[in-house]
Amino acid sequence: MIKQLKTEFLARFGGREEDIRVFFAPGRVNLIGEHTDYNGGHVLPCALHIGTYAFARKTDHPFIRFYSKNFPEKGVITVSLDELSYDAAHSWANYPKGMVAAFAELCSIDSGFDVFYYGNIPNGAGLSSSASIELATAVMVNALYSAGIEMLELVKISQKVENKYIGVNCGIMDQFAVGMGKWDHAILLNCQTLTYRYLPLVLNDCSIVIANTNKQRGLADSAYNERRATCEAALAKLRQVLKIQSLGDLTSAQLEQCQHLLSPIEQKRVRHAVTENERTMEAAEALERGDLARFGELMKQSHLSLCNDYEVTGAELDALVEAAWKHEGTIGARMTGAGFGGCTVNIVKDEHIPSFIEQVGREYKQKIGYEASFYVAKIGGGAREIKEEKEMVL
Ligand code: GLA
Repeated sequence: MIKQLKTEFLARFGGREEDIRVFFAPGRVNLIGEHTDYNGGHVLPCALHIGTYAFARKTDHPFIRFYSKNFPEKGVITVSLDELSYDAAHSWANYPKGMVAAFAELCSIDSGFDVFYYGNIPNGAGLSSSASIELATAVMVNALYSAGIEMLELVKISQKVENKYIGVNCGIMDQFAVGMGKWDHAILLNCQTLTYRYLPLVLNDCSIVIANTNKQRGLADSAYNERRATCEAALAKLRQVLKIQSLGDLTSAQLEQCQHLLSPIEQKRVRHAVTENERTMEAAEALERGDLARFGELMKQSHLSLCNDYEVTGAELDALVEAAWKHEGTIGARMTGAGFGGCTVNIVKDEHIPSFIEQVGREYKQKIGYEASFYVAKIGGGAREIKEEKEMVL
């Protein structure tokens, strides 16, 4: 496959095969800790083995040529090095272009490059295909221009590009998981301090099954920014009486005492942020002591809180998790990512996976009218250069 993709690169851009370098960044799935990142709480995501590949070669040209095998109809998108501002006509290429624009402020991008992308994460499914192309570009530009920027910095640059260049006001979870992921580990990240710990993901006779509602979810035009704004307004009110920096510092007990300061909607949103943060810390402890049953119970509570208090699930995600909860092989099931569509994450006993897919899939189709898709996830490493064919998982 690596050979075939290199051949396609050469057919598009010409040149010599030995000059092509290969970079990769994964997608991510969040096990628990949803809508807590921008509230200064904890998250527990892991990187996937699927993601975005970037085949690249530096040139002497004053321009960059972008091509994606996933968007062949867009053809080769050529961008001059002197004009790196956002351009709607450049569609998907704005993600890597934004990254180059950010690098240009930090190091000298003295000549262009050709890049050929291939991604195997379903787009818009809430598995962070955008953070994946950002970090794949970050490790590529960092290597091609010998910029020497550390991974944590690349993560922050990518989030900034998403916020300021693309215009999506996301937190840091996705870029962090994609950049810092580790094989067979989840990452417990405190999003306020950015301190983190890798937790071995020991699932014994169980696996992570991702179920896609196949309902497209537009982060930018969804209620995401509105949820964020409500939490910020509530925080401002709470800070008048409490010494807290973010909702991540707030306990359930404190919230109870200060509820009256908040509007009914703010109370619900903040209750989610606070209880979800507490659940995430507890889930990490449960995982560390091998108590998967408790972990699964916390996943269920997380979904219910996202449904009732944060109101970001919707009929499709609810149908998928409700079907999963009924299945005998399910240890835990909840929505993952921003919500409003996208995927659920499930921990399922291996021997029951075929019947899980069959039954949950059937029930979902009956309720919603179209099919869900299922993937058994493997937990992979973070963004990196790929030096050998065997490191590619296509
Ligand atoms: C999206 C955002 C993340 C995070 C999640 C919800 O994936 O990009 O920053 O807020 O939603 O947990």
